[in-house]
Amino acid sequence: MKISKKRMKELLKNDNFPQSAKYDPEWVLKGWMGPNVLWLAEWLCEKMELKPGMRVLDMGCGKALSSIFLAKEYGVQVWANDLWISAAENWQRIKEAGMENQVYPIHAEAHDLPYADGFFDAIVSLDSYQYYGTDDLYLDYFQKFLRPGGQIGIVVAGLAREIKGKVPEHLTRPHHDRDSFWVDECWCFHTADWWRNHWDHNSTVEVEVADVMPDGWKHWLQYEQACDEAGTLIFPSEAGLLRVDAGRYLALIRMVARKK
Ligand SMILES: C[S@@+](CC[C@H](N)C(=O)[O-])C[C@H]1O[C@@H](n2cnc3c(N)ncnc32)[C@H](O)[C@@H]1O
Repeated sequence: MKISKKRMKELLKNDNFPQSAKYDPEWVLKGWMGPNVLWLAEWLCEKMELKPGMRVLDMGCGKALSSIFLAKEYGVQVWANDLWISAAENWQRIKEAGMENQVYPIHAEAHDLPYADGFFDAIVSLDSYQYYGTDDLYLDYFQKFLRPGGQIGIVVAGLAREIKGKVPEHLTRPHHDRDSFWVDECWCFHTADWWRNHWDHNSTVEVEVADVMPDGWKHWLQYEQACDEAGTLIFPSEAGLLRVDAGRYLALIRMVARKK
């Protein structure tokens, strides 16, 4: 690492997320895959009822930091499911965290999940669901793995307002060493209202929460800058764009629904 532990701690200091502050800052910075996944998990869990022993699916868990966090903070068992990161790599991290009896790494694609119907007491997904869940048919497939009365909660990178027509120029203009932030894939970004409407179409769930993280872009920017200074970013920094956008478009969206 390029910087001291003391500096890492300073860079990650954020009073909005006290649970996340307990975790080794080097581990958190090395876990970069987008916005700080522990902060996303902590915010989501404000609205989730997680009890010890529950079976939880962490869908699109990336490097499984959130899976380890959920198991440690709430005593739940977590199936850490991802596609880009292998089960073997996540198993290593899970063992290093001493959570091998509570967190189980699974490599599976979102449309071909290997679980029994009704198996999970809760499902979470952090900065991942937008990649497959905008499909009109997806929630109906996905909710089958949840037991009646269970909650599904997601946080996604999204929008504070929908983009109608042309993409705003500042989202496509290069910033510092980064080319256009906006690529066609970004059309999966939507507002909280869009997501609420999308989930309302499914008669098996009742939407409980659809909101925007207060100052979400500032938290996203803080972690991006921290990882940049620590040298743990895999792609060029999004910090320049986040600063220029200043929350006009880019936002972090939370959705929680309960299966009837
Ligand atoms: C931006 S990363 C976020 C990872 C992690 N949740 C985090 O926040 O650090 C998105 C994750 O979604 C997963 N993902 C994307 N498409 C997927 C699919 N079709 N099936 C399963 N996982 C998928 C990827 O494997 C990736 O790890």
